Amino acid sequence: MSPTPVDPMTALHSLRLDERQRAMLAAMGTPVWWPEAITATVDAPAAAPENTPPAAAAQQGAHVPPALRPPADPAPVRPAPAPKPTASPVADHPTDPTIATLDWDALTQAIQSCQACGLCQGRQHAVPGMGHRQARWMVVGEAPGEQEDKQGLPFVGPAGQLLDAMLAAMGLTREADVYIANVIKCRPPHNRNPEPAEVAQCRPYLQRQIELVKPDLILALGRFAAQTLLAGVVPDVDKLPLGKLRGQVYRVDGRPVVVSYHPAYLLRSPAEKGKTWADLCLAMEALEHNPLTPPAEM
Ligand code: URA
Repeated sequence: MSPTPVDPMTALHSLRLDERQRAMLAAMGTPVWWPEAITATVDAPAAAPENTPPAAAAQQGAHVPPALRPPADPAPVRPAPAPKPTASPVADHPTDPTIATLDWDALTQAIQSCQACGLCQGRQHAVPGMGHRQARWMVVGEAPGEQEDKQGLPFVGPAGQLLDAMLAAMGLTREADVYIANVIKCRPPHNRNPEPAEVAQCRPYLQRQIELVKPDLILALGRFAAQTLLAGVVPDVDKLPLGKLRGQVYRVDGRPVVVSYHPAYLLRSPAEKGKTWADLCLAMEALEHNPLTPPAEM
């Protein structure tokens, strides 16, 4: 992982929001301002853990109308520890290495018929993923909830509505611009946290999805997505709260990965939406600077 420096003025000028995007941000309940993480460098994580009371990162620049400023003081910015790069974020499947060779149809079928862990016994539907299979953006969540289990689609419940608003604020739709997948493909009972063995069994599916989509940027939403994608990249990642992981751009297999809060958490803690908007701005900026992306015009 190597933090990516961003020129602050480039960041400011490249993030132009039109009326519709501003309206979507308003729908998210998110004030618009220029996040500190971008106006400083992308190597600047917020210090507050996931359950810390809101300390919205405010930028008091003259160009920002007072009504659009977040309510509280900026979170302190600390330099990030320098995690060591590794070969892959996702370990080999403990039982079926052929997952790494599957095409889209075979992968979908393998997920839908998977019996590698006990979660298959309680599922109505496995939830492989949805969206554009060659999207530049990939969103990784945690696991299906009740609605997702019923419909076989990711992020279709209340958290999904907020995710759609977050995407719309960036001018994106799940159908055209994003591929959405979860770490875990089957709903854990009563939406409990996934167990390490379940994550280990399911990881190769996510790894294969990433290889097939070849996204230019991965947005990891929530602790389980962050820990799964950054395992081996960030030392002791499973001991770090999400607030310590967000606010910077990681490189995983050469791909930028940005971590932010899970939409379900934001529904419970709406004051953190401002930090999420900062993370989305950081992701937009990282994608703009992603050397994996060929120039639009040669
Ligand atoms: N939460 C997730 O992490 N994924 C979903 O698909 C739905 C809710």
